[in-house]
Amino acid sequence: MKLLSDAGRKAPKVFTGDEHAFEKMLRNEKLDAVIIATPWEWHVPMAVASMKSGTAYTAVEVSAANTIEECWDLVNVYEETGKQLMILENVCYRRDVMAILNMVRTGLFGELIHCRCGYEHDLRPVKFNDGTTYYYDKGDALKMGKDAYAEAQWRGLHAIRRNGDLYPTHGIGPVANYLDINRGNRFLSLSAMATKSRGLHKFILDNGGPDHPYANIDFNLGDIVTTMIKCANGETVIVTHDTNLPRPYSLGFRVEGTNGLWYNDGDMIYIENKSKVPDEWDDAEAWIQQYDHKFWREKGQEAEGGGHGGMDYIMLTDFFDAVKNNKPVPLNAYDAAAWSAISALSEMSVARGGSLVDFPDFTRGKWIKNKPFFALDEGFPMDSERMLIHTIF
Ligand SMILES: NC(=O)c1ccc[n+]([C@@H]2O[C@H](COP(=O)([O-])OP(=O)(O)OC[C@H]3O[C@@H](n4cnc5c(N)ncnc54)[C@H](O)[C@@H]3O)[C@@H](O)[C@H]2O)c1
Repeated sequence: MKLLSDAGRKAPKVFTGDEHAFEKMLRNEKLDAVIIATPWEWHVPMAVASMKSGTAYTAVEVSAANTIEECWDLVNVYEETGKQLMILENVCYRRDVMAILNMVRTGLFGELIHCRCGYEHDLRPVKFNDGTTYYYDKGDALKMGKDAYAEAQWRGLHAIRRNGDLYPTHGIGPVANYLDINRGNRFLSLSAMATKSRGLHKFILDNGGPDHPYANIDFNLGDIVTTMIKCANGETVIVTHDTNLPRPYSLGFRVEGTNGLWYNDGDMIYIENKSKVPDEWDDAEAWIQQYDHKFWREKGQEAEGGGHGGMDYIMLTDFFDAVKNNKPVPLNAYDAAAWSAISALSEMSVARGGSLVDFPDFTRGKWIKNKPFFALDEGFPMDSERMLIHTIF
């Protein structure tokens, strides 16, 4: 409200009162676009209702869906209504992640063989934040006290019931773009294993004591869940979910091909015959500057100060570019389904001791002919081998 009044804009109409108030908004208003940033269990009901109400563009926070049925709901309703659905995976727009996309597409790493990624983030305070104990301030520093911006306890509840990779898209979104998933490639199957669960229980005892309401709860979520995915074109991806233990933040990217690799923990790149010294890492920074994506070349200054290091600004600019110019969204319903499905599939695999579980083909075969689409940068055209593969069909 304050942002709008400060900008001299008129106050928005607010629909509130109960958890179904959004239905009234969708019934009564003609909306250009809807952005959904609610707890996970509301993403699909809201996205489906928005598309069905005729909203041309709907965007949903991550992960988009919790179950395989919900993944199909997103795809089916998108196909039935023809209304656009975007998954708001902001890490796909991170500056280094986009520069690496340019490097991948121009063939700097050669043919991709293996990737790693994950969500390695100490979420213990967030999972049990009741607004009076711990919180992250707007500068992302961990503070104690009372905070109006505190995240509710809904994330913690998922850790009680579920055991799998509950938040895969920050890692897998960028990697899916590198591997052309749904556009010439697809996720075929996965196997996941979870460690024992100790971190959350210890955190509650250490900070809340034995009388804390969760002190006697058995958490299902293993402290570290490791998922290995096999792709149709032969690559493997390891995805790590690590949110219950003390640790600095990382998304743990590694992108490895026949010519070299990027290793994000340490920000290092090695390219055979191009790195300064054979078998020694280059600092990634100079490479990243050289391959800077056009979105950042053009909008990097405007993005400064925007959420999550500016990537939210770059992402929303891309979304609104689609809305204003009547274009397809850059990360669509099939991406939302394939990436989010990792949660439910890893839960199944963990429950079966790591057995292989198949991915549904949410594109129903369209992945074979679909072409790479996300954030193409004419400054860094695709290498001839990649182009050849994409033009055979
Ligand atoms: N992309 C990112 O970097 C990033 C970062 C943080 C959160 N998220 C995602 O954003 C979403 C929200 O997370 P958060 O941390 O802001 O949670 P939060 O609990 O702080 O905020 C959720 C908001 O949704 C509202 N809400 C809940 N049910 C509703 C309903 N039925 N109708 C209308 N409003 C309702 C709540 O009142 C609250 O204001 C989640 O999906 C989360 O995964 C993404």
